[in-house]
Amino acid sequence: DMARRGPGTPATTRSRPRVDGMPTRCVCPGSFDPVTNGHVDVIRRAARLFDEVIVTILHNPAKAGTFTPEDQEDLIIEALPADSGIRVEVFAQTLLVDVCRSLEATAVVKGLRGGTDFAYELPMALMNRHLTGLETVFLPGAPAYEHVSSSLVKEVVTYGGDVSGLVPDHVLEALVHRLRRG
Ligand code: PNS
Repeated sequence: DMARRGPGTPATTRSRPRVDGMPTRCVCPGSFDPVTNGHVDVIRRAARLFDEVIVTILHNPAKAGTFTPEDQEDLIIEALPADSGIRVEVFAQTLLVDVCRSLEATAVVKGLRGGTDFAYELPMALMNRHLTGLETVFLPGAPAYEHVSSSLVKEVVTYGGDVSGLVPDHVLEALVHRLRRG
């Protein structure tokens, strides 16, 4: 199984460039802890630009996990239209460039809420290009979700605030269950 790989093949092979006539395939990576309507917006925009989209749940060492990767995966699958054809996969402890190489994805797509996101994303995009030539496409997200992040949503839910409309209903339910029990 390609999913749930441990640290493996080093990032030595260059990313394969786009080939005319071949379907275009991108990866939407993130920690998705949990998925928000901002993520869903960007994933759906990516699906209009690329023939195939694979959402990959990866580990961000700077972030503490609230949901297990398997729960995150289920929450994303339920957030996407049933017939979208968008795949969702978990990769623990793996470099994004290695994930993209094994999935034969030509590009990474990341949403930007504003300049702060760009400042955070640019070094990662440049590092990924340094490693294998993997390119990153930045998509501005819907302004309605500019203030939406998984971490803020969790904080608001923890202290009893209302985030309906900012995450899918089933995610809200999972958040309340996980963070406000007792
Ligand atoms: O949603 P996030 O937390 O902003 O996503 C960051 C993520 C998970 C895409 C990034 O931390 C990542 O790519 N992790 C996998 C390990 C890796 O490749 N690290 C080097 C990035 S240059």
